[in-house]
Amino acid sequence: MTLTNQTVLETLNEIEAPGGKQSLVQAGTIRDLEIDGSSVRLVLAVQVFQPSDVETLRTRVETALQAMDEVAEVVVRIQPMMPMASAPRQPEPEPATWADKIPGVKRVVAVASGKGGVGKSTVSANLAHALAKTGFTVGLLDADIYGPSQQLMMGATGDPMGDEDGKIFPASAPGGVKVLSFGFFVDADQPVIWRGPMLQKALEQFFGDVHWGELDYLIVDLPPGTGDVSLTLCQNVPLAGTVIVTTPQDVALIDARKGLNMFTKLETRVLGIVENMSGFECPECGHLEHIFGAGGGARTAEELGLPLLGSVPLDPAIVIGGDTGAPVVLERPDSPAARAFMEIAEKVAAATK
Ligand SMILES: Nc1ncnc2c1ncn2[C@@H]1O[C@H](COP(=O)(O)OP(=O)(O)OP(=O)(O)O)[C@@H](O)[C@H]1O
Ligand SMILES: [Mg+2]
Repeated sequence: MTLTNQTVLETLNEIEAPGGKQSLVQAGTIRDLEIDGSSVRLVLAVQVFQPSDVETLRTRVETALQAMDEVAEVVVRIQPMMPMASAPRQPEPEPATWADKIPGVKRVVAVASGKGGVGKSTVSANLAHALAKTGFTVGLLDADIYGPSQQLMMGATGDPMGDEDGKIFPASAPGGVKVLSFGFFVDADQPVIWRGPMLQKALEQFFGDVHWGELDYLIVDLPPGTGDVSLTLCQNVPLAGTVIVTTPQDVALIDARKGLNMFTKLETRVLGIVENMSGFECPECGHLEHIFGAGGGARTAEELGLPLLGSVPLDPAIVIGGDTGAPVVLERPDSPAARAFMEIAEKVAAATK
């Protein structure tokens, strides 16, 4: 017998989709199926309720297909989607914005940058913890769906959990900070491909299908640049403000201006600029060396008519803290970097009273 779409689909029809009573075929999860001789490649778009669902399903599909006589090789790629809440019994009017789906959240503050790798995620994580230390209730949403990092950086203990309605309880980090990141649901080495409508839906689910509860602040860590995610967020959520992170080099500053222009066009308030990696304090003698040039953030802030919320020095503890989930604000509260983050949090709080 030769291998055909039909025989493969029959096998997949025997496997249950996560959380449902339907098979993978009935639930419409098969996005791409290619058969080449004895090799089968397929993409499954499935709702994941727990991070472990992805691997369990992959193993199940691989085992079932490999058991077919004609199959020599199986490549399964899984595109995880957040579970959707079950349909309401009575039709409810569509909320006007996603913010209506999170009535307990008082302020949403986004952290953006024109350029990648300048420290948005580091600033987001430490700003969230600094606000929590100040006494606010805080959540952090990692909206960098292409390169999520907060599942690691925030020091969350445990994974997010789904409830019986398919809504997600965020993970919890020290200080009671709630964390949600797509990184909890995907393998770090698995590229996630997002098309327009899927991206929009995934982001919307981050707001509507998550138990954020009562929060003074929801910090949103954005992907770099002025792409789809930032645009979609600004168009759907009234932001209390945006923090733009930059490094002191001129090239980064040009990109910071681009970011600012986008937010201004979208009528989103920019709270100010955070200058990151602004200098290196010698641990031996305390001398501050401005590796990337001095005062760039302050100059840009002045040129753009924005407040400089703070300057965070280069600190090796930040790299280690980021990689091990030990934010410097919590781990080394007396360091100049942690003090800078506390000051930034104070200014953000004052600007968004
Ligand atoms: N002030 C700092 N001192 C030392 N290292 C830092 C500092 N800020 C950030 N880093 C390190 O630089 C790297 C990039 O930081 P981060 O991931 O926060 O940037 P990002 O802007 O979120 O990146 P991306 O655009 O990829 O999302 C990380 O390894 C981080 O630990
Ligand atoms: Mg990041």
